Amino acid sequence: MNRRTFIKGAIALTATAYISPTIVFGAENFKWWQKKPVYQIYPKSFLDTMGKGTGDLRGITQKLDYIKSLGVSAIWLTPIYVSPMVDNGYDIADYTAIDPRFGNMEDFDNLIAEAKARDIKIVMDLVFNHTSDKHPWFLESKSSRDNPKADWYIWRDEKTNWRGIFGGSAWQWCEERQQYYLHTFATQQPDLNWENPDVRRALYDAANFWLDKGVGGFRIDAIVYIKKPKIFADGTPDAPDGSCAVHNMTANTDGILDFLHELKREVFDGHDIFTVGEANSVKPEDLPLWVGERGVFDMLFEFSHVNVMFNNGDEVWHRSHPIKLSEFKKALSDSQAATKNSWYPIYFENHDKPRSVNNFFPHGSDKILAAKALAIILFTLRGTPFIYQGEELGFTNTQFDSIDDYDDISSHGAYDLARADGLSDKEAMRFVQKFSRDNARTPMQWDSSKNAGFTTGKAWLPVHDDFKTCNVEVEEKNPNSVLNFYRKLSALRNSSDVLISGRYEELYPKNEELYIFTRSLGGKKFMTVVNFTTHKVNLPDKILNGAKKILGNYADAKNYLRATEAAIYEF
Ligand code: NOJ
Repeated sequence: MNRRTFIKGAIALTATAYISPTIVFGAENFKWWQKKPVYQIYPKSFLDTMGKGTGDLRGITQKLDYIKSLGVSAIWLTPIYVSPMVDNGYDIADYTAIDPRFGNMEDFDNLIAEAKARDIKIVMDLVFNHTSDKHPWFLESKSSRDNPKADWYIWRDEKTNWRGIFGGSAWQWCEERQQYYLHTFATQQPDLNWENPDVRRALYDAANFWLDKGVGGFRIDAIVYIKKPKIFADGTPDAPDGSCAVHNMTANTDGILDFLHELKREVFDGHDIFTVGEANSVKPEDLPLWVGERGVFDMLFEFSHVNVMFNNGDEVWHRSHPIKLSEFKKALSDSQAATKNSWYPIYFENHDKPRSVNNFFPHGSDKILAAKALAIILFTLRGTPFIYQGEELGFTNTQFDSIDDYDDISSHGAYDLARADGLSDKEAMRFVQKFSRDNARTPMQWDSSKNAGFTTGKAWLPVHDDFKTCNVEVEEKNPNSVLNFYRKLSALRNSSDVLISGRYEELYPKNEELYIFTRSLGGKKFMTVVNFTTHKVNLPDKILNGAKKILGNYADAKNYLRATEAAIYEF
């Protein structure tokens, strides 16, 4: 047992002995962010009110009634701060100012006020692992080895063999300082040095600025990377061959929780907000140290179910393998079990993942049935459902033929890596088309007019070619649309104690065709059944005895499941 496992084990044992599990009866004891879903907006692709081809804050304010119709409590905005936009806002050059492409502070204040009038909170993205290389802190830091911010970033004379998450070396040579700096993500996203208390103070001040504005919480970006292991202090930590990704060397290392508890004390404590950390690689068994009574965050986006096609945390697209349903279900069930005394953010999509219909259902599945099937799971697992813009309309992946047509910086890194590993252009493109983050970033489709009503200018990323049939205006009018299905599911979940707080239990975990689970509370029970195949599958004997179907993606009920069929039963 290494030291790290030992310490974690010891903490876990102590905690089990002294902390009693939360006893939950009905949903009345739950917080506002547990009772309703959250809607995620990628502002650049939501609605452009100025004809410039990119979305803005006024566009979001204009659509608040639409968002409210989904029964949500909050909107999570991906970064809207001043940024050179190398990584679409995740490269921040000023933590407390709005990028002019999105509008100004008045627009932001207005959005908060209008959202509040509709009982919706605005949740901000905190990007604290790195800044932009154009941030004044970095400009100062790189100017010499002895300026006041000289050690605000991670500078070294030598470099390791670590590969950055977007491809290429994780180290960049800086002529001015004659040193390398570490960047977990793009070259233009240098990592901050969290060991320096002044850095931490500056970050906490930035977060508190937004709390003073009345935001309803934070999604905390890439938080597992903030604590670096010793680099060169006691030897050169070159990664072993075959795992030279920075992720494998720096994610979730010893001591990270001390930083996070400080962040909680200095920023989160005492506010009626929710926090959700983005935490690739925190294992389900470690979740109690991260979320809930003893943890730091209210929820944690861990990646186990969305990365089930990858063998390890470094997500090399061309080394992915087909998903086994039992593994996908196990990931979800393990997370449900690990958060049974805390809380879980349920998600299948976000701005970094392909569209879920393509990602989780076999090729040839009916797209509308599949979108509704995933929605049923999204709203009936235990936790807060996170809906990503367009998911509620049944959006699917886009496809560009050339790598030059992709905007996403990680798609270019993944393509180069695939080519360097010997794949042809065609083979490399197959993986880019499957996993590119641009799949999730095509503009929102509001109506059947030019550019789907997203912009009167030239859209920064082409609108999906299905926009004439898949858009808000068309789906509003169709009672059987994916959109109206989301609304029904949201209303059902938000008014059901069983669906909000009931116990989760998976049935038939080894079944490779069906996902079946129940939610129960005080003698009441719901059951979700989903057929992940494109053919008819029999349900286990007698499983529906005494059950009444309350909602499904097929209107009637049979004692078997048709292709891509999903339903909720009540007992
Ligand atoms: C995770 C964000 O979701 C992603 O979009 C971004 O590129 C990286 N963190 C770096 O900030």
